Amino acid sequence: MKAERAMETQKEQAALINGRAAAKAFRASVSAHVDALIKAHGIQPGLSVVLVGDDPASAIYVRDKEKKAQRAGINGQTHRLPKETSQDDLLALVKRLNADKDVHGILVQLPLPDHIDTDAVLAAIDPAKDVDGLHVQNIGLLAAGEPAMVPCTPMGCMILIRSVIKNLSGLHAVVVGRSKLAGKPVAELLLHENCTVTICHSRTHNPAHIARQADILVVAAGRPKMVKADWIKSGAVVIDVGINRLDDGTICGDVDFDEAVKVAGHITPVPGGVGPMTIACLLGNTLIAACRQTGVDVPHIG
Ligand code: GUN
Repeated sequence: MKAERAMETQKEQAALINGRAAAKAFRASVSAHVDALIKAHGIQPGLSVVLVGDDPASAIYVRDKEKKAQRAGINGQTHRLPKETSQDDLLALVKRLNADKDVHGILVQLPLPDHIDTDAVLAAIDPAKDVDGLHVQNIGLLAAGEPAMVPCTPMGCMILIRSVIKNLSGLHAVVVGRSKLAGKPVAELLLHENCTVTICHSRTHNPAHIARQADILVVAAGRPKMVKADWIKSGAVVIDVGINRLDDGTICGDVDFDEAVKVAGHITPVPGGVGPMTIACLLGNTLIAACRQTGVDVPHIG
């Protein structure tokens, strides 16, 4: 009887989507393909990450990217520049990396200091090396449904969604947030999978009402615990892109996890959900970029 009741209680909780495990498996696949590329062609993928300034969160992300790249056999290098670096100096570095044949992927960590024009810097990156998928050429290709460098966080979201739903066709996906890094591209990718897609943003009237109709709810709003239980349809797949640090030092997502877990069917935790997938997909994009730039067939990753 006790066990039955425990089972019932368990059923009332959403299943967790384990981003750490999915990312580990994806990185292992990247690593195996990198090994093969080195052995068969003598090509080691190279990734250059550029960090300007001393934002503590960015410093942690960048260190993790460098470490995981190296573990996957990718030559990961970080260029750390002081926060007062001029735009011209940053553009000159991007130009140098564009011309370096051993560098296959370039990522300029965002946000950049206020005196730098982010769009100008992103536009200066060679689209073939734009492993972030933020160059307008890649944004356009993605919108057109043509092969593009796909931004890492949206790609990670899709892998996690596909791990629990095999056929997305006809499902209603609601994306909360319309950023270039997450909201807009994830909406494009869901559309490519034949979802009916609605995007909610800061000006949307009654977003909770719209979100409640979602079979798949992707939240990339940048607001801690914004999405409450009454935003979620029973059984929905909830993907939380947010990473917020609260005053007490704890990390939380844009979804109020403790509430949402009682309503959703599947949910990503924060930390341990989308975050690890972002880096795994960055490594995948670097491998793809290296293959394309050297005329080697792009392998299937994952
Ligand atoms: N800052 C936070 N996430 C990202 C990302 O995916 N790419 C870049 N370039 N900067 C970021």
